[in-house]
Amino acid sequence: MNFRIAPSILSADFARLGEEVRSVIAAGADWIHFDVMDNHYVPNLTIGPGVAQAIKPHCVRPDGTPVPLDVHLMVQPVDALALEFAKAGADIITFHPDASTHVDRTLQLIQGAGCQAGLVFNPAMPIDVLEWTIDKVDVVLLMSVNPGFGGQSFIDSTLRKAEQVRKLIAQSGRDIRLEIDGGIKVDNIRRVADAGADTFVAGSAIFGKPDYAAVIAAMRAELEARR
Ligand code: DX5
Ligand code: ZN
Repeated sequence: MNFRIAPSILSADFARLGEEVRSVIAAGADWIHFDVMDNHYVPNLTIGPGVAQAIKPHCVRPDGTPVPLDVHLMVQPVDALALEFAKAGADIITFHPDASTHVDRTLQLIQGAGCQAGLVFNPAMPIDVLEWTIDKVDVVLLMSVNPGFGGQSFIDSTLRKAEQVRKLIAQSGRDIRLEIDGGIKVDNIRRVADAGADTFVAGSAIFGKPDYAAVIAAMRAELEARR
């Protein structure tokens, strides 16, 4: 399994965002996770397409390899903002199906704008919409906290849901990423991988520590140890 660590810049120092993005990439980040909150779908307000555009030039490794900008939309409605983020340089755009009236159309819209598209499921949301969309999605993102804030505790039922989604992905035969978001730390990442996840969002666990590289290395060591 090819694992990816996606630091969430929600817990970064917003006054030094470009520098933070570069530091976390130098520390070994695979994707940059970008949390968009609108104070409507979730009770918090964060960053918009202008900030995505500003950090995009920083989403690159020292050798010039681009690092995907993974935009997690916690907004309602979805479509117009999704297009703005595609224009701003998003590589992956995920949205909550319950925030879109026409989920299939939103997926097509995102992919038509040249991005990978994914669906996000809150802890209490069923995943039945995947039955009708698995042939289109590039990413499934399972929330392991209720969206809106960093630093919350991992909700264990996500593990069972991840197992179910991993089976659906295997049945589809498609190359779909299974990403988990919320409460991921060095001490639980292995269990999350065991449940079938391949991509791990971590905000406070990484940006809350002085040495980002040490945290990412410890996470990778946990993932390696289960092979
Ligand atoms: C929560 C966001 C997460 C958040 C995760 O609504 O979607 O991406 O930043 O933060 P931690 O890793 O601190 O739980
Ligand atoms: Zn997120």
